[in-house]
Amino acid sequence: MVIFGASGDLTARKLVPALYHLFVGQRMPMPFRIVGFARRPKTDEAWRAELREALGRFSRTKPVDEAVWAAFSENLHYCAGEFHDLAAYSRLKKMLKGFGDPALAHNLLCYLAISPTQFGDVVERLSASALVDKSEGRTGWQRIVVEKPFGTDLGSARVLNGELTRYAHESQLFRIDHYLGKETVQNLLMFRFSNAIFERLWHRDAIDHVQITVSERHGVGGRGGYYEEAGALRDMVQNHLLQVLSLMAMEPPGSLEAESIRDEKVKLLKALRVWEPEQVARQVVRGQYGAGTIGGEKYQPYRSEAKVAPDSNVETFVALRVLIDNWRWSGVPFYLRTGKSLAASASEVRVQFKPTPHVLFAAQCGPRLDANSLTLRLQPNEGISLRFNGKVPGTSMQIRPVRMHFSYDAEFGAYTPEAYERLLLEAMAGDATLFIRRDEVETAWQFVDAIREGWKGRALEPGAFYEAGGWGPAGADELLARYGHAWRHPQATV
Ligand code: BG6
Repeated sequence: MVIFGASGDLTARKLVPALYHLFVGQRMPMPFRIVGFARRPKTDEAWRAELREALGRFSRTKPVDEAVWAAFSENLHYCAGEFHDLAAYSRLKKMLKGFGDPALAHNLLCYLAISPTQFGDVVERLSASALVDKSEGRTGWQRIVVEKPFGTDLGSARVLNGELTRYAHESQLFRIDHYLGKETVQNLLMFRFSNAIFERLWHRDAIDHVQITVSERHGVGGRGGYYEEAGALRDMVQNHLLQVLSLMAMEPPGSLEAESIRDEKVKLLKALRVWEPEQVARQVVRGQYGAGTIGGEKYQPYRSEAKVAPDSNVETFVALRVLIDNWRWSGVPFYLRTGKSLAASASEVRVQFKPTPHVLFAAQCGPRLDANSLTLRLQPNEGISLRFNGKVPGTSMQIRPVRMHFSYDAEFGAYTPEAYERLLLEAMAGDATLFIRRDEVETAWQFVDAIREGWKGRALEPGAFYEAGGWGPAGADELLARYGHAWRHPQATV
């Protein structure tokens, strides 16, 4: 495996800790070597020492097992070079050949943890130096993993796809969305398609609406520069939220083959109603965090964050109403929301079922009974809860909602591998199911671009600024209220 961008944050925080844990669990395919490729000259030893220090901070298991680290880190090597310098790729090739085993030279996973503006350069040179071969008759396998953001709109995503597919076949490209590596996101498929009872209710006849929340307590922190270019819509909705939505709402695939699953996801994304620019103000709410207090800690407004313009118009919160124009979901709104500096860090899908057709107990509990709901908690407190009505014990006929909980921790113990562990393993095994296909990423951009078109030239309205530590601007509540619905907030967790 060659990591381009070896000195970067992602390598230290996510990739190497994930690879180390795969090694601890004896799941790394043997033999292997991991080569870090970056500009600054460095010895293997220096790179290993840097990564060891970072592992101490970012490892999900502590303390680091020194004996295992020693055995693992023997496989870490460093190759210094500029991304555009073909000679550096020859050095890389020589290094790979020097490992002895031919498989180590031919079976190559290239991880592009670099800016998308450099993807083209790197892939072109990988191809020119025959490290990556697109042809049918290639020796071994070569794959390229690309990080998000995959473009900034449909046009730029198409250009990127064009650059990548000039030198690599689509089947060699693995576009990451780390949400797909999360256990609970994968469990959406297991839950839906390995149980008979829920799928029967999974459609417009039984479901009133769906809420998908991905909220974060923290602000943008040190990522102000990136965020100013992205905003919540491009940073979170275009990828993570639409991915969760597509797994939640897609039709059952014919098989578990990657293409079969991805075909269904694309079909779903294509069925999303694309809002016209003049409909956007009514269907999509944006917000930006102001100052506030979260858990006793003072939060500064987004506009005071480092590398953020003092009059920034970038949204740190989005709530939107999504309609899916197909037989299964026609008329069922899916409400999506995400934001930073909110009351809690929590991701969940809440399925709100339709109420009973007639309230038999109106005399006892009023004309409205709580409708059933099913909540899939993606993080934290991973699990599933079903809410239904039960009789309060006693001689009077009182009814109130009760909940039935399934908790991952309670059932399986606190084993939560990092998303990157799963994703790296799948890329090494060549299984593209958990990666985004070209048409998928482009369809998602099409949907998101239309919303941005509706925002074009319009500054955030005064009501868009929300207090840090709350649940976003009032407009998000008004959006649902207009259709007779209300947000159910995830339980606050620290
Ligand atoms: C990233 C976004 O893709 O996902 C971040 O760029 C966001 O802004 C992060 O904080 C959330 O990921 P997770 O795994 O912490 O929910």
